[in-house]
Amino acid sequence: MSNAPVFSVDPQAFAADPYPALAGMRAQAPVCFVPELGATLITRRDDVFREEKRTGVFSSYQPGGLLQQIMGDNMMRKDGDAHMVERKALFPALSPRTVRDVWADKFRAIVTHHLETLKPKGQAELVRDFALPVAADALREMTGLTNMPTLRMDYCSQAMLDGCANYVGDADIRRKADAASASIDALIDARLVALRDAPDMSIISVLDQAGLSRDAIAGTIKVIIGGGQNEPRDAIAGTAWALMTHPDQHGRIREGKNSYKDAFGEYIRWVTPIGMTPRRVAKADTTCGVSFEPDDTVFFMFSSACRDGAHFDAPDAFDITRDVSAAIPFGAGPHFCAGAAASRCMIAEFALPMMFDQLPGLEIAGDVPFQGWAFRGPVSLPVRWKT
Ligand code: HEM
Repeated sequence: MSNAPVFSVDPQAFAADPYPALAGMRAQAPVCFVPELGATLITRRDDVFREEKRTGVFSSYQPGGLLQQIMGDNMMRKDGDAHMVERKALFPALSPRTVRDVWADKFRAIVTHHLETLKPKGQAELVRDFALPVAADALREMTGLTNMPTLRMDYCSQAMLDGCANYVGDADIRRKADAASASIDALIDARLVALRDAPDMSIISVLDQAGLSRDAIAGTIKVIIGGGQNEPRDAIAGTAWALMTHPDQHGRIREGKNSYKDAFGEYIRWVTPIGMTPRRVAKADTTCGVSFEPDDTVFFMFSSACRDGAHFDAPDAFDITRDVSAAIPFGAGPHFCAGAAASRCMIAEFALPMMFDQLPGLEIAGDVPFQGWAFRGPVSLPVRWKT
């Protein structure tokens, strides 16, 4: 075990609002062992930014871990060349050019469709009725899993994520996660047949054209369903909430002084949808004044890094005018989010501007609880608008 100073958290309070504890860690023990999480947390931005790249020490390879048991072998749990081969194969499907030339029109059509359904209603629960289906339909297109129903995408994502966090071994959670994973395999097999006849730029097709095995394709698709569904959903709803609760800043966007891209970038700095990424210590090492032992579990805390006062003035405030170039909500190493360009386009170019434009007078109509420290976002967002 690392010899980092111990910093205890109350798990319930940490999930309700991790930011006070993370600020305490940065101030008192920036690399600390948290017994309740069984991991050593690295919390300062520059330490995360530097150490995440030292993959020889902080390895993504975690054989037999829950993520691998449920999703199979996949790129998120590989280092070095083994990772790069799959990452390069994936690139053409999610490159900025493909996003512009292929996915942008699909995102516009998806957002248009869901707003057409919502507009006459005058009220909605924005997470469930807009952010969730927009994120799911975008993912259906990008993955190539157009044979998966919209709501099923969210269900499978959640079931697998619950399975990956099932450290207590709850049999029901495991059964649901395995069933979700198996159902994705069946849908991939069906799509592979069709996509071999008519290849396109979807992830399944691009990985197949690159010669990846069916199991490697399935592993990547499952990781993307795990990470590419909840995060855009939480970022769409979260940024919408932030703008509705900061009307002066929304006014700056309406006046052309700032953009929805600024709002999205600042929101995911302020409330990172993915709060951390785990690593396994591969060999003994001393860094940041702490000695690590092989097989220690380390969490790189993006949520904390993005509120580091060494880089951001008044880091707990939402401020769309700030420079967020030092923020790392998409990661800071070789596993940097492959869907960053797609997310920016989907959310900042279409979901947010079209929603505020087409739902006039959009305002909050109830409580907006937030939850989570590893994944964080609004649980529900009741809203109303003028019809
Ligand atoms: C606001 C939305 C999103 C956020 C905040 C986000 C954030 C992240 C983060 C923090 C990581 C881990 C980085 C690391 O370990 O250094 C990651 C990895 C990844 N993300 Fe995203 N993500 C988002 C949306 C998406 C979408 C829509 C897709 C796919 C369509 C996607 C695909 C991936 C993949 C494939 C990886 C693993 C990359 C690798 O292992 O090389 N993400 N994402």
